[in-house]
Amino acid sequence: MKGKKEQFSNRFAVIAAMAGSAIGLGNIWRFPYMVGENGGGAFVIVYLICSVFLALPCFFSEAILGRHSGTGIMGIVKSKFPEGKLNFLGVLCILSPVLILSFYSIVGGWSLEYLVKAIAGDFNSMSETESVRVFNDYSSSVWRPILTHFVFLTTTAVVVSLGVKKGIEKFNKIIMPVLFVLMVLIVVFSMSLPGAEAGLSYILKPDFSKIDADVICDALGQSFFSLSLGMGTILVYSTFMKKSESIIGSGVLTVVFDTAFAILAGLAIMPAVFSAGIGPSSGPGLVYETLPYIFSSMGTVSPTVGYLVPLLFFLAVLMAALTSEISMFEVIYEYLRYDRLYSKKKAILTVFLIGFLIGIPCSMSFGVLKGFTLWGLTLFDLADFTTSNFLMFIGSLLFCMIVGWKMKKEEVYMEITNNGEKKFAKLIFKPLYLWIRYVLPFGIIIIFLTNLFV
Ligand code: TRP
Repeated sequence: MKGKKEQFSNRFAVIAAMAGSAIGLGNIWRFPYMVGENGGGAFVIVYLICSVFLALPCFFSEAILGRHSGTGIMGIVKSKFPEGKLNFLGVLCILSPVLILSFYSIVGGWSLEYLVKAIAGDFNSMSETESVRVFNDYSSSVWRPILTHFVFLTTTAVVVSLGVKKGIEKFNKIIMPVLFVLMVLIVVFSMSLPGAEAGLSYILKPDFSKIDADVICDALGQSFFSLSLGMGTILVYSTFMKKSESIIGSGVLTVVFDTAFAILAGLAIMPAVFSAGIGPSSGPGLVYETLPYIFSSMGTVSPTVGYLVPLLFFLAVLMAALTSEISMFEVIYEYLRYDRLYSKKKAILTVFLIGFLIGIPCSMSFGVLKGFTLWGLTLFDLADFTTSNFLMFIGSLLFCMIVGWKMKKEEVYMEITNNGEKKFAKLIFKPLYLWIRYVLPFGIIIIFLTNLFV
């Protein structure tokens, strides 16, 4: 039988954990580039509108469902649809954190490798081609990335095994503020580089002519991915939320911190990229090929700066990735522990093994399995693509439909307003409820179909 669940101690712990899950590689290597390519400040405005009207209500639905039911997704599906016909949806929802856990750990391992390189002072003098070669050699080799993947996943498993309060909460409470301070330091440094203005205007200058339907869909997809929606992470973290904590407040603050961090990452990266006279890019290429070269050229200006900046930067990437990975690990762990009633040890070990084993072919798809593609995608890309384009939306749709159609209206009201105590929540309850019930499902279906066919 299930014992009493641990809870986060206070509001700060809730926000640190949720922001920890949300803030990750998506903020560092995807958002800055998307902003720059899609109209700068204008894109940020569209992104915020998408966050407020679609992502945030989905966040609320997930949190309502989690706190109300106190169980993970499979438990909810089983209790709301006892005839068992929809169990496959629960399985799909578990599948996405399994996939992300595995491929995210590969990339987390890369940042560990790069942190070690930075500590060793490897970024002292590297030409652009050398930097590309170093990354290709490392990522395409067999053992080294699997070793870093192993260490990264082991760290995650250790934090989760320490429990909600002593593990997840403590870790996020320390790491998240440090992460923000690190980013601010790098921003200050990056902006002081000669020619940084071009990078600044790339990120900030609004250009509304770039906004079209495609851009809006991109903004929506990014806001869902960045907030870790539809995979049960917010849901599971909400089961640790005290009844006195505000769901609305937590959601709003998580969006604010997540967006603020993404903009900070842009301000840290793009001025340096432009200052070095390189075109902007995104993804692994930006973080592991372009930036190391830029850092190494800083070393010629000041050796201390050339040593410290890459070190701080890869430390930040590693921390951002770890706090996200922990939230995914926790989702699968909770499922095995409380739905399948595994012992703690067995549950931790099983999640670890699943993540580790699926991670191996994902890692190899940068090397020996490069030529092996399904529907034109390598295994790594396939895992990334299916989760961020499909599974995530199926999860979100399921969560908001259950809140809108399966939960009683009073139950939703009690969760949102904390038993009628929160004034602002009471004020917006009615429109929010109608929105979750009637508008949100269509919104999600439209994004889903657009991703599928356009
Ligand atoms: N939000 C994370 C990022 O921006 C990525 C992510 C997507 C994620 N879904 C998740 C992290 C689920 C943890 C759990 O990088």
